[in-house]
Amino acid sequence: MASFRDICFTPAEFANIAKVDRNAISALEANGLLKTVKRKMGNVERKMVSLEGMRDYFRALRETGRHGDQCEEFSNSELANGTGAIAAGPPVAAATAFVPGLPKHKVQMFYNVKGGTGKSTLTAQYVMRAAMMGYRVLAIDLDGQGHLTVNLDILDGHERATIYDVLINDLPIAEAIMNVAPGLDLIPANLGLCNIEIPLNNKTRREYRLSEAIATIADQYDLIVADTNPAASILNGSMLVASELVNVVCATNPLSFHGMSLVMSTIEELEREFRRQLEVRIIPNMYDNREVISQEVLGELRAQFAENCSKSVINRCVDLNEATKRRTTVWDVNAKGMAAQDLSALTEELLFLN
Ligand SMILES: Nc1ncnc2c1ncn2[C@@H]1O[C@H](COP(=O)(O)OP(=O)(O)O)[C@@H](O)[C@H]1O
Ligand SMILES: [Mg+2]
Repeated sequence: MASFRDICFTPAEFANIAKVDRNAISALEANGLLKTVKRKMGNVERKMVSLEGMRDYFRALRETGRHGDQCEEFSNSELANGTGAIAAGPPVAAATAFVPGLPKHKVQMFYNVKGGTGKSTLTAQYVMRAAMMGYRVLAIDLDGQGHLTVNLDILDGHERATIYDVLINDLPIAEAIMNVAPGLDLIPANLGLCNIEIPLNNKTRREYRLSEAIATIADQYDLIVADTNPAASILNGSMLVASELVNVVCATNPLSFHGMSLVMSTIEELEREFRRQLEVRIIPNMYDNREVISQEVLGELRAQFAENCSKSVINRCVDLNEATKRRTTVWDVNAKGMAAQDLSALTEELLFLN
């Protein structure tokens, strides 16, 4: 099984992710917007799009002068006549191409003081999807359990520098960053990070150290996303100070819902203390429409946190477990499956907040 770094997309999968007609692929190739590779599948050679090909396609679309902070669509007549794209080549057959602008909030975190709600799983899928869309992404693992690190297929995290070395031992943050796939970097975590709270508590400007470190490398990325530990820790507080958007993952069960008031009041307290205004999205996860309790919790989340609840709901789906096990994406597991659809919608919502 291929890890995320090596995955390739079939033309149909590419068309689905890029939101173009499958028949437009040859025209996109002729226009120089898309490069495909030939991969041997059994006895036949198939045309595929590599992760790098996918990334370069989205980057080429964005670099055609259509910058903006909104998600745009531009028509293929524009692609073909050169107002946006490379002019040569035959007209592109599809009706419109999907041109995502830069993310609305560059620094984001996934957060909940409760464990097991799906933070690490959704963070991993989100950053991989953003890398597929051509963004320069930095993922930061702030949980000593290192689940984001493992989800991104890094199995030697115990040997690597973590944010501990940056915040406590003054290691330049750039030296803690490793590349995991085209367009995707990571600051990994390991068990040593579990010991950070006491030394961090003794540091001056403790809550600002992380945001100051992130600020030094922020211009190298379009999106910086942290996965956090399930606690009201100083480390998580530091990430709240650094973040613009907080994605709170809430499983659709009664105890997770019960914990939401605490999470929201913790965020509000920090906003007051650090005079910040954070955008907060609550993401209902592990929803099962056959369960009355799931429906009730979703209804209560939407009623009580109307302004903050995300439109996207992530259904309980075995593809997410499978993706975790294979350390790859849900699009690799089943590009047309429910998890792939849910995560595509969630990614667009969190990137553009539309
Ligand atoms: N929507 C979902 N459907 C099925 N399993 C899920 C879903 N979201 C998360 N999981 C599974 O739940 C478990 C806990 O998720 P994890 O991301 O580790 O939670 P957290 O980081 O909040 O502790 C993992 O085994 C993960 O694969
Ligand atoms: Mg986790």
